[in-house]
Amino acid sequence: MCGIVGYVGKRDSQEILIEGLKKLEYRGYDSAGVAVYTDKGLAVKKAKGRLAVLESQLGESPLRGTIGIGHTRWATHGKPSDVNSHPHTDNSLKFSVVHNGIIENYIALKEELIAKGHRFVSETDTEVISHLIADLYDGDIVRTVQRAVKRMTGAFALGVLTEHEPEKLVAVRLASPLIIGVGEGENFIGSDIPAILEHTRNVYILNDNEMAVLTRDAVELMTIEGNFISREIFHVDWDIMTAEKAGFDHFMLKEIYEQPKAYRDTMGARLNVAGSGVELNEVKMSAEDVRGISNIHIVACGTAYHAGLVGKSVIERLARIPVETDVASEYRYRSPIIKPSTLVIVVSQSGETADTLAALREAKRHGARVIAITNVVGSSVAREADDVITTWAGPEIAVASTKAYTSQLIAFYLLGLHLAQTLGTIEAAEVAHTIAALKSLPEQVERVLEQGAAIKELAEQIATHEDLFFIGRGLDYAVAQEGSLKLKEISYIHSEAYASGELKHGTLALIEDGVPVIALATQEDLFEKTVSNIKEVKARGAYVIGIALEGDDELRKSVDQVVTIPRTLGLLTPALSVVPLQLLAYYAALARGNDVDKPRNLAKSVTVE
Ligand code: M6R
Repeated sequence: MCGIVGYVGKRDSQEILIEGLKKLEYRGYDSAGVAVYTDKGLAVKKAKGRLAVLESQLGESPLRGTIGIGHTRWATHGKPSDVNSHPHTDNSLKFSVVHNGIIENYIALKEELIAKGHRFVSETDTEVISHLIADLYDGDIVRTVQRAVKRMTGAFALGVLTEHEPEKLVAVRLASPLIIGVGEGENFIGSDIPAILEHTRNVYILNDNEMAVLTRDAVELMTIEGNFISREIFHVDWDIMTAEKAGFDHFMLKEIYEQPKAYRDTMGARLNVAGSGVELNEVKMSAEDVRGISNIHIVACGTAYHAGLVGKSVIERLARIPVETDVASEYRYRSPIIKPSTLVIVVSQSGETADTLAALREAKRHGARVIAITNVVGSSVAREADDVITTWAGPEIAVASTKAYTSQLIAFYLLGLHLAQTLGTIEAAEVAHTIAALKSLPEQVERVLEQGAAIKELAEQIATHEDLFFIGRGLDYAVAQEGSLKLKEISYIHSEAYASGELKHGTLALIEDGVPVIALATQEDLFEKTVSNIKEVKARGAYVIGIALEGDDELRKSVDQVVTIPRTLGLLTPALSVVPLQLLAYYAALARGNDVDKPRNLAKSVTVE
């Protein structure tokens, strides 16, 4: 949700800022801007639209200088426009600010500053920050930013430059992610590691209420109270290539094809050598702790929530612990009954989703233990949870989540087995059998991916429709919800996911001649019932695409088209059946000419509530 990048060094900053923003564009892409300290003072250029618009303007009239800040925006306060883009300045044009997050008390601050003579030009909350800093400036930008931050409420990450102290770049973090890249004779700030990875692998991850002062040769870390902090450098060990498209047309496609690797990496050493057990050493609960769990809450947003729906079935079936699932934005406000014996599992690819983080804090406030399933080491969620199961999917850049979702499923399988082993709710033979099936998944996903061309053809057919339905029972229903979200998100086709048995209670009225219905029928115990539901929609003229198990000739007779997945245990089918749905969404979006990696109105990391 908005991307920040900053540079102080010896090189031309404009190029570094633009290249960094390209890596962050997934965070927001309705407008972009840079401020560079030039020989004529601070100069700002910003433009509505994709980064390419700004890049071309800078190509025509570059801003030359070796210190600068840049921003790519996802609008909250004020529509996307040139004037609402960041960086924002004060009236003297001597202070420039980039911001990610929301300043909740900006109206009160704005009124106060207007009364003092400040003139505002944008509709944003951010503009208040540059004016406030200018108003409070006392000759020391670090001290001034500290004072300004104390006046602001909300969640934010900031990058601040002033012409008065042009050698310094000040960065602040309060509940929105920010990292510092440490180079030689140059230093960087970024909302996320890929923004700076081309230049350095050494980073500091700022915590909430911390700030950094960067000059060309030094980085000072301190609290917003001004107390210096010493922190070990975090060395990034993944490659820039994993954050690049590597020959694929889109990040989403690349990430879909990376799933076999993501499965292998997420299982990794967690399946012990003999293959007979799960070793989830990062979950530091003793056997007694596990026996003390009365119930589990799984809380997350969007696709991560859909992984949680599968997680619920996995844990209940394997470990026989009652599980509730909640959308994080609702969790806090429904006064959930959280006991110290409740285990709360939060799931978040980015580890920075504001609602998920708030749910985590709510759980901790009630004394619950929190396990985080996240893809980002050192993220806020990872740092605040008691235990962290990292999904080793590698950086996920496309806004539509794919490999992160399936890696979250793997994490749930591992956790479910771990709890079940500890509680003795399943036999050792069943653990071994499940592990063997898990180990086969990567190769089975590869086989699903081989059907890419056929799925593309189906996608081109459905791309001409405006309404579509996904149906399924049990775990198929959980996957249907994810398939439907994926399709909506990037193809903009309206779709709904329904529990197959629920159709006749209203939704069946929407089925008419030619309406596409994607029917998942991978749960053998529910197969007959699902086929009956498929017949109900067929009888009303639906065009049905079935997702079936290999060798399932019975389903073929009841549907118009079939995509098959290899046979596995019923519990593990979501890790395979979602893959054709991801491809279907991808190719449908492509057929409609959409920007697959950056769908309209969305952003990758949602750091506002
Ligand atoms: O980073 P998170 O997993 O916490 O993000 C949660 C959702 O915003 C995210 O899954 C969103 O639904 C995806 N864009 C869906 O593809």
